[in-house]
Amino acid sequence: MDTLNTPTSRYDPVSRFFHWLVLGLLMIEFAIAWTMPDVHKDTKPEGLIAWHIFFGTLILTVVILRILWRLTHSAPADVPMTLLQTMAAKAVHKLLYAILLILPVLGWTNASSRGWDVKLLGLLSLPALSPKGSGWGHEMGDVHQAVAIGLLVLVGLHVTAAIYHQWIMKDHLLQRMMPPGHGK
Ligand code: HEM
Ligand code: HEM
Repeated sequence: MDTLNTPTSRYDPVSRFFHWLVLGLLMIEFAIAWTMPDVHKDTKPEGLIAWHIFFGTLILTVVILRILWRLTHSAPADVPMTLLQTMAAKAVHKLLYAILLILPVLGWTNASSRGWDVKLLGLLSLPALSPKGSGWGHEMGDVHQAVAIGLLVLVGLHVTAAIYHQWIMKDHLLQRMMPPGHGK
């Protein structure tokens, strides 16, 4: 059986890199979202709003690559836990991946309904996901904001579980996901 100190009992370095990269990008994205001006009917996608779209499309790209990587590279063997805990952890992980995909697409749909030209990394124009002036596209702005809060709640749950493993169960689970170059 693998021990926590053998390489196979940790996520591979690419998975670990993606995990912490997404955390860093999300921190930047939320900081921008909460400081950018309110978006109204005649708002133009400039300044912090342009940065929000830049980082949002970057997150979407990174998450797609991360999921493709994960689908082709398996996770290390599960740490010993109750079946319920294992299932809960897997469900939260899947939901996190799903929200990371859906959230930027909702923002993009809202941006399209405002007639904004959404560009990948500020360079490559992406197709509009809703027609300009579309009512449902506009509604997706509210859904985007609600789902962003949902993501925060879920990440809170995920981090609480990580802290529980680290300090209460003391099973070194965190080491499985330590950034490349850190941890034993
Ligand atoms: C994971 C990536 C993203 C996160 C975490 C995120 C988060 C947020 C948050 C928290 C808000 C609410 C800001 C407030 O409270 O005033 C917001 C608003 C908004 N976001 Fe994002 N966003 C992401 C990606 C995107 C993308 C890719 C786009 C467009 C291409 C986008 C477009 C917008 C727009 C247009 C609003 C204003 C919505 C409205 O007021 O109706 N977002 N975003
Ligand atoms: C301080 C913040 C965080 C800590 C301490 C943390 C910790 C961890 C740990 C220890 C694991 C490995 C679990 C295992 O071995 O079964 C993990 C997996 C995972 N984390 Fe985090 N995490 C954090 C933030 C985030 C954020 C912000 C996201 C995404 C929004 C995220 C998404 C995931 C996902 C999807 C997995 C499952 C990986 C897989 O099996 O594909 N984490 N996290």
